[in-house]
Amino acid sequence: MTSAKIAVIGGDGIGPEVTAEAIKVLTAVAPDTFEFVDYDLGAERWLRTGEVLPDSVLEELKHVDAIALGAVGAAPGSKAIPSGLLERGLLLKLRFAFDHAINLRPSILYPGVPTPLAPGLVEGRTVDFVVVREGTEGLYCGNGGAVRVGTAQELATEVSVNTYFGVERVVRDAFRRAQARRGKLTLLHKHNVLVNAGRLWNRAFTEIAAEFPDVTTNYLHIDAAMIAMVVDPSQFDVIVTDNLFGDIVTDLAAAVTGGIGLAASANINPTGEYPSMFEPVHGSAPDIAGKGIADPTAAISSMALLLDHLGRPELARRIDEAVSADIAERGGEKLGTTQIGDRIAARVA
Ligand code: NAD
Ligand code: IPM
Ligand code: MN
Repeated sequence: MTSAKIAVIGGDGIGPEVTAEAIKVLTAVAPDTFEFVDYDLGAERWLRTGEVLPDSVLEELKHVDAIALGAVGAAPGSKAIPSGLLERGLLLKLRFAFDHAINLRPSILYPGVPTPLAPGLVEGRTVDFVVVREGTEGLYCGNGGAVRVGTAQELATEVSVNTYFGVERVVRDAFRRAQARRGKLTLLHKHNVLVNAGRLWNRAFTEIAAEFPDVTTNYLHIDAAMIAMVVDPSQFDVIVTDNLFGDIVTDLAAAVTGGIGLAASANINPTGEYPSMFEPVHGSAPDIAGKGIADPTAAISSMALLLDHLGRPELARRIDEAVSADIAERGGEKLGTTQIGDRIAARVA
């Protein structure tokens, strides 16, 4: 990796603020390694030009080595920007077009991080797990419709798409990760109600488990998993689940491990045919945008996932170590966005 090309999509709200710090840290840990290309996409571009993600831009993005994304989306309830326009037209479009089947979302409770969990629940225990969320199927496919919209007879459907191909590849990925970690994999679903998709997920999970006799497996219904995440998150090593359950469980996972400002993610294209994309789990946080107070740590940690993906694990570990040292030193003190970025950049340099 002499010069890798990274597309930078800051996006909306705090997206550009946290992304600037992420790029700052990436440049500090690996000077002269990356060529950054900025893409002006998001709410402002749409308001100005009516474009969300032009085909020509999508074509260009296909050829970069990785994408660093901030966040997209307007304030919930915005009148100027329809809900879903940017989420579906930009973020999900990239995940689908570039076949980001593996949505990796690690959670680690670093020492000294304030957690809403009672001290007795985490003291002396390791909370360090990763959610492997399916990224290209489920209820996210836009497979639905509506009739008689606006009337008392309105009917709307959203149909979840689950293919054996899609489930098998994410489950196999999760088994491999569990094998390389502490050897435990938990499947989250709701097969007591969603019997069709549930049967498919269960079969894939059971069949692939036979290839990984050294991995211990268990299953939790998604509702019970919400309890487990709050009363004993140390029980988890690797979690595998579908697209929507994975979206929900990773916000909770973030909350119990120090907050959404720390949660990183990778959208991985398993074949390497398309660029993978690295982004914080959080959104554009319109409530704090422009104030310089967004925590850039999640965006910065996402750059560690990017470095891992591009075959530079030693640089990735340097970012992880700097992040954990900085969090410990901060001890819950609230610092500004650029302050945190500067501190972590100085540590990795
Ligand atoms: P959000 O994640 O933007 O914000 C939820 C809460 O977390 C807010 O109180 C916010 O201030 C706080 N928060 C988020 N990031 C933070 C950070 N780095 N530091 C400190 N606090 C932080 O979720 P939302 O409010 O539901 O969504 C806002 C917009 O973002 C919506 O348009 C939504 O669709 C979009 N969204 C985008 C992504 C993405 O681009 N990946 C992810 C989630 C939501
Ligand atoms: C996330 C976000 C997205 C998702 C939205 C904005 C499409 O919530 O990355 O977690 O649901 O995947
Ligand atoms: Mn989400």
